[in-house]
Amino acid sequence: MSSKSKTGEQSAVESSFSPTPADPKRRRLLVAGASVAGGLGGAALLLPMLDSMSPSARARAAGAPVEADVSKLAPGQMMTVEWRGKPVWIVNRTEDALASLRSDLDKLSDPNSEQDQQPEYAANDVRSIKPELLVVVGICTHLGCSPTYRPEIAPPDLGSDWAGGFFCPCHGSKFDMAGRVYAGVPAPTNLEVPPYTFITDDLIKVGEDSGAAA
Ligand code: FES
Repeated sequence: MSSKSKTGEQSAVESSFSPTPADPKRRRLLVAGASVAGGLGGAALLLPMLDSMSPSARARAAGAPVEADVSKLAPGQMMTVEWRGKPVWIVNRTEDALASLRSDLDKLSDPNSEQDQQPEYAANDVRSIKPELLVVVGICTHLGCSPTYRPEIAPPDLGSDWAGGFFCPCHGSKFDMAGRVYAGVPAPTNLEVPPYTFITDDLIKVGEDSGAAA
């Protein structure tokens, strides 16, 4: 992970700001461009580009489950895997980030995850199986842009009440560190939590579960 170049990290940030909604090819490039980002710098898990997909990559694009090794994902970092052509984010939330999920619930549209945007085992106050590990589809529920990961507290562009989360640059939708959408923004629902399970403590399978939190 330490070998990731700065150029790779920057391409991930820049590409995430591109206002190109609901474009599957564009989305694939977003996923392939870089896979790990975070406040601490992040590390790389580069995925194959569209024009050089291996048979296993094509299987993933068709919907096969994908595995993600989170053993080196430090608190505060986010990594991306591709599932069904979509970016799936895995975030190792800090204690402070988890604490933020319990405050200012009035700012959220669906704080209790009542809309069907997650499996039953993630319909809880942290929207995940393990509290620290968030797994969400990185596509805005408004028109399909890719939001940016903004874990910092109260940055100037997002305001003094920003406690970390995801910001969609296309039309300004905001999501907290559980992918719960703010009230009064264009996005109608929380970010989607895909089906997933833990194969081991550090290995997540995205796209498949046994119907229960493993
Ligand atoms: S696509 Fe995200 S706010 Fe419109």
